[in-house]
Amino acid sequence: MSSSPFERVLSAPILGLGLGIDIFDDQPDFRVLIDRHRDGFDFLEVYSRGDWEHTDDPFARIPASVPRTYHHEGLDPVGPRICPDDTINGCAKNQRLLNPPWTVEELAVRHIDGKYCDFFFPAILNEECVKATIENLNALHARLPGPLLPENAPYEFSVGDMHLCEFLTRVAHGADCGLVLDLGHLWSWQLCVGKGDTPDHGIDKLDLSRVIEVHLAGARIEKYEGGQIYRDLHGAGPIPEASLYLLRELLPKLSNLRAITIEVEDATEQGAIEQARQVREVVQQIRPAWLEGVHVA
Ligand SMILES: [Fe+2]
Repeated sequence: MSSSPFERVLSAPILGLGLGIDIFDDQPDFRVLIDRHRDGFDFLEVYSRGDWEHTDDPFARIPASVPRTYHHEGLDPVGPRICPDDTINGCAKNQRLLNPPWTVEELAVRHIDGKYCDFFFPAILNEECVKATIENLNALHARLPGPLLPENAPYEFSVGDMHLCEFLTRVAHGADCGLVLDLGHLWSWQLCVGKGDTPDHGIDKLDLSRVIEVHLAGARIEKYEGGQIYRDLHGAGPIPEASLYLLRELLPKLSNLRAITIEVEDATEQGAIEQARQVREVVQQIRPAWLEGVHVA
């Protein structure tokens, strides 16, 4: 019998601290990061904006010596039905080109009636959405060569009365898969539900053993009458203190952690390396043994 998506990601080595880059960006340019700053990161998380038609050439420019994960977009796993065939085939193609140990996909919907929206419609937090998400992930896993790691998406509003951490646990158990916990996105949801002062509120509802990868990114917090909204800036802003607080709190408890990714799209190369250094310092302080276990390619 073939192993479950969770078992498959558990068999991967510890990748360490990585940079999340957009393969089509001029800045930071992944080739410059590899050529001049290779000692500043352990792996790359490769994002292609969900594209699979123009990826052969840029993907081939990543040397085999650089470990990589893949961040897809557009499978829309929290939607009411499975995404179109060409999207699944495109993701499969990119997986074959990159051969990553897993593929990250947001728990969000980015297409409406086939049209791409430049907005993450995040998972509706109710029973129906848990059920649809599990069905979609199971169907995707039956067709993709590599396992998916669903990621909690950014929230600017929250619909449904389930705690986000419960939703994530139910999905991970139901689809027997691991998770990416984006710490900024978790805080974005806490801000939506009035718990911004306690970024780890309800964390006991999350099965932390399912967290294989953690994301950190720069953000801007916008105040409005009655609350605050988290805006993802990735490399174009500082990592919020709430995200670093969550990292310090959770790091000792993530028993199956394999990767920490700092999403640095739109940073300068120097800025990207500086954010990686900032995060490495925290990890070095809190869990140095984890860094010692990083697999060297
Ligand atoms: Fe993320």
